[in-house]
Amino acid sequence: MILIIDFGSQYNQLIARRVREKHVYCQIERPTIMVESIKAMKPEGIILSGGPSSIYEKNSPKIDPAIFDLGIPVLGICYGMQYMLAALGGTVERAKKREYGFAQLNIRSHKALFEGVDRTTRCWMSHGDSINQLPKGFRITASTENTKVAAADHWKKKLYGFQFHPEVVHTPMGKIMLRNFFFKVCGCKRSWTMKSFAKEATINIREIVGDKKVILGLSGGVDSSVTATLIHSSIGRKLTCIFVDNGLLRKNEAAKLKITLKQHLNINIRFIDAANKFLKALVKVTDPERKRKIIGRVFMQVFEAEAKKIKGAEFLAQGTLYPDVIESVSAFGGPTSVIKSHHNVGGLPNKMQLKLIEPLKYLFKDEVRQLGKELGLPEELIWRQPFPGPGLGIRILGEITRQRLSILRNVDELLLDEIKKAGYYKNLWQSFAVLLPIKSVGVMGDKRTYENIVAIRAVTSKDAMTADWAKLPHKFLGNVSNRIINELDGVNRVLYDISSKPPSTIEWE
Ligand code: XMP
Repeated sequence: MILIIDFGSQYNQLIARRVREKHVYCQIERPTIMVESIKAMKPEGIILSGGPSSIYEKNSPKIDPAIFDLGIPVLGICYGMQYMLAALGGTVERAKKREYGFAQLNIRSHKALFEGVDRTTRCWMSHGDSINQLPKGFRITASTENTKVAAADHWKKKLYGFQFHPEVVHTPMGKIMLRNFFFKVCGCKRSWTMKSFAKEATINIREIVGDKKVILGLSGGVDSSVTATLIHSSIGRKLTCIFVDNGLLRKNEAAKLKITLKQHLNINIRFIDAANKFLKALVKVTDPERKRKIIGRVFMQVFEAEAKKIKGAEFLAQGTLYPDVIESVSAFGGPTSVIKSHHNVGGLPNKMQLKLIEPLKYLFKDEVRQLGKELGLPEELIWRQPFPGPGLGIRILGEITRQRLSILRNVDELLLDEIKKAGYYKNLWQSFAVLLPIKSVGVMGDKRTYENIVAIRAVTSKDAMTADWAKLPHKFLGNVSNRIINELDGVNRVLYDISSKPPSTIEWE
């Protein structure tokens, strides 16, 4: 494994991705980690990340310099390099010229990390400080026009430093350099696969759970479905999943889930039809945040009442992923594990005194999908786009009624059908329909109509933090609009949402 020390860089997740995609396991830890704990982890290599601080700032993050004597190879990136070299007796100074963006890297030594890299290659710089003087035993291995020490090493001690960022795509040969570090210098094996992860996780879960029972709130999304399947493969019927139908799901959602998870994989699921309860509580509610609060509250009541019936349950499983955990670690403080509020069960563990298990806590989304595949989940479920907890409740602007739900469900089904048929589904982060709270005039045959308006929303995104509206072809949109208006009841106008996030959001409410 490779241990990544988080000095606050915005690229930490990217470094972790670079390690994992080479099938090497890695973990991100704070600089306050004790040397003893590092030794116990037995990493093959350590990466010190970049960070926004200057090493001369009073509260700049520091790690115990004893790590440089462990005999474990270390690669310091940007701030990580400056910290390492300063800690070993070098000096760092404010650069005369702040270097940001592309620079030409001139390589002096092709040994170790630069093996197989061109003599000159582009690299990405982002720094205000530079190394002024190297500590004893170090040598310069690459320079740029503005930065004499763009890379340095102490090959005997296997300590390496890059002033530039090898993890970003703007350093095209960065992947080769990192690969050299993992395999040539650290001697890592390509053993991190989802198959090996599943095997280990299954044993772990069995040990932790013993003869107790586990409860899991199943949403039908990828994360909770994979969590359920993994835990099921470990402890079988000792896992009970609770699926709450809140009446705000897409068409046939619950039925489809029943087929894939219950019949296909034989997972123990309790389906609770609570649609009446939710819809009753939502009568005449139009404010989006009130809708969310009501949906959240009713969910808790229903879930808790059902969970109480499961005697001997001691654990609550959740599909928390690594990016959520990293975000909280990176803030230099705060909890080590965040429960996603949108799972809608955030308050449950405390209240019900259940212990949390989060077996996907160290995985990225694409790894979760791979794991799902490994565990035999169907493609359709693995590639599902995210769907919000409050469901269609926040896609019906204004009041939620059964009639309006039915209109939106039909439109949504038709739209997704077309999107899948055209092969756009996997490339879109989300695609859905929104029912607006206004009507408009139209003409059908010889008759004047006064009907609903729906908006189509389709976005591309990496993480939902930012999103771009998808440039779907006009012909495709025209066809979808025709089909919706001609084939379905209750809609006579279709709009396409061309706003990005920010300043808009993905959902309309
Ligand atoms: P926005 O609309 O804020 O959405 O750009 C970002 C992502 O979060 C989803 N979303 C929610 N998910 N409960 C959820 O479980 C919610 O209340 C909620 N609101 C938004 C949204 O679908 C998108 O993926």
